[in-house]
Amino acid sequence: MIFLNYKITEQKIKEILTKNKSTKILQNVVDVLYESFEKYNWVGIYLVKGDILVIGPWKGKQATEHTKIPIGNGVCGYAARSGKTEVVDDVSKDSRYLSCFLSTRSEIVVPIKKKNTVIGEIDIDSDVPAAFNKTDEKFLEKIADMLHQHI
Ligand code: SME
Repeated sequence: MIFLNYKITEQKIKEILTKNKSTKILQNVVDVLYESFEKYNWVGIYLVKGDILVIGPWKGKQATEHTKIPIGNGVCGYAARSGKTEVVDDVSKDSRYLSCFLSTRSEIVVPIKKKNTVIGEIDIDSDVPAAFNKTDEKFLEKIADMLHQHI
């Protein structure tokens, strides 16, 4: 049953992406991710502009103060530099972590790449400790791959 939700969400996102002309594609994808998984408490997309990550569409209870993050800083900047997914099971134990919300316990950052160059990333915060498992990782990497041609 749990796995069905990943499948259904993937299908919803595929449908959004076929409506190629919408300028709101990224926002719609963020909204679907946020609404599909209770443990996804803040979902955002950062976009690479030069050597800075700039906040794009997001959905959650609060806005983040980290609207611009230099590549290399925080978990987001680290993933942007390495091009690899970062999963943080306990944000209080990760010295790279830039705090946004007091309720956050774990985080996943998935780079969006075009020809091996990071052009953006999906950042998700959860109020649940160690919320992101291998299924989330693989699922979000697939979504990131589907998004690269829409950035
Ligand atoms: N926690 C991130 C910053 C972005 S907020 O979670 C929205 C980081 O450490 O880079």
